[in-house]
Amino acid sequence: TIADMKGLKQGNLRLTVVTTAKYVIPRLLGPFCQRYPGIDVSLTVTNHDQLLDRLTANQDDLYILSQPPENQDISCRPFLENPLVVMAASNHPLAKESHIPLPRLAEEPFIMREPGSGTRRAIQKLFDDQAIAIKVRLELGSNEAIKQAIAGNLGISVLSLHTLALEGASSEITILDVEGFPIQRHWYVIHPAGKQLSVVARTFFTYLLDEGKAIAEQTVLKLIQ
Ligand code: PGA
Repeated sequence: TIADMKGLKQGNLRLTVVTTAKYVIPRLLGPFCQRYPGIDVSLTVTNHDQLLDRLTANQDDLYILSQPPENQDISCRPFLENPLVVMAASNHPLAKESHIPLPRLAEEPFIMREPGSGTRRAIQKLFDDQAIAIKVRLELGSNEAIKQAIAGNLGISVLSLHTLALEGASSEITILDVEGFPIQRHWYVIHPAGKQLSVVARTFFTYLLDEGKAIAEQTVLKLIQ
């Protein structure tokens, strides 16, 4: 139809993404919105559990997360890697070591995301699987606050590599070389299986799958590699 033609697509795109995706999705929205100036976007950034609540309530067109729910009928496609890495202050004694064994991390004070966080769940699973008990010194509800706490020598943490997007591996935070890391995860774009997507939502879905990775690599990912 004419409305489908490039440049004529109009309407609102409602997206909800997990907190780690906020470092990358705006970079993908830039070229998308330039291509389709008639599309307005509302982007909600929240944690994993709150995203699932929004999905259940059918509040948005599309959702981006790392751990698709298993008990819901959804359509789900991976579009980009989302590795988890161990971060410490650059002056941390472990910063100079390589092949750090995982159990060694249990001796360090750990900074953990809030309950409901997908990052937290992935970390907990890793340590639980190896029967390692970490010492959580501090619980913080934001990746940025955790980075500040790491830089302030309050402890180490495990976060998405993408959270370093703007600063790169800066002089204040470094990535530790720990066995089993990075944990390879992906971002998935999902929507309820039976839901008829709007033209706008379908356009973004296709854009993410066809071009998302390349655009992310040209923009934000090259800053951290
Ligand atoms: P979170 O999810 O923001 O809930 O930690 C991020 C992720 O699972 O990648």
